[in-house]
Amino acid sequence: MPSISILPADRVFVLTGAGVSAESGLPTFRASDGLWAGYRIEDVCTPDAWRRDPAGVWAFYSARRAAGQKAQPNPAHFALAGLESQLPGRFFLCTQNVDGLHERAGSTNLVHMHGELAKSRCERECGRPPVEDHAVYASLDEVGHCPCGGRLRPHIVFFGEMPLEMPRIEREIGRATLMIVAGTSGSVYPAASFVHWARAAGARTVYVGPEEPLNAAAFTHVVKGKAGEVLPGLFQVES
Ligand code: APR
Repeated sequence: MPSISILPADRVFVLTGAGVSAESGLPTFRASDGLWAGYRIEDVCTPDAWRRDPAGVWAFYSARRAAGQKAQPNPAHFALAGLESQLPGRFFLCTQNVDGLHERAGSTNLVHMHGELAKSRCERECGRPPVEDHAVYASLDEVGHCPCGGRLRPHIVFFGEMPLEMPRIEREIGRATLMIVAGTSGSVYPAASFVHWARAAGARTVYVGPEEPLNAAAFTHVVKGKAGEVLPGLFQVES
């Protein structure tokens, strides 16, 4: 695959999904041996699950925390951090991943649209900001409470909840001239719509992953391969 040029006038928007962390040993969601193969989404990742069984929800996210803490960033994370450093002020990263591997690789201008594993927040949405929380809870009794009395819940966007930072994300897509999407199946909205919004705004759109995503037809380039193998050599920043 010849490299794709990034020109001096380009602004880059990147969307990543679970596939970008796969080479760090974190399972994706929809693979046959993925996270959702062992769980029902409605038991661990919905507001209703939280109301019915907060202990079960915390058990699931505590296990994710334990796995995330052991994982290291891989060449895909480092390639994106390197691209950001070559494109000061012209690079924005939106990740659906709740692990912290992009930051640990050096990315700074990024949002976690589906939340962050290493944070918790009040279940009552009382207005206090999320707090850093790396705890792996063995039981619900260990989980702290907000000063308002609400129990702390994972700072994760459950199915049916609004993704975070959408106004900023929409603004960044509107001004991007190149969208790079890596390691996401294109099955969860609104993230799966971003490529359509970028195309409508006239951007080039590149997908990187071993399989075609569900929204493959909206990409101007689909580059088949693992993100950690493809991303490091894919882009040429022109001066
Ligand atoms: N490099 C790049 N892509 C990969 C790799 C790899 N090494 N390995 C797997 N993939 C791809 C798969 O081909 C698949 O298309 O990663 C994608 C993972 O898809 P999903 O499991 O559906 O994960 P994602 O798209 O991130 O899920 C979106 O759904 O469950 C919710 O909130 C959760 O943020 C998540 C959202």
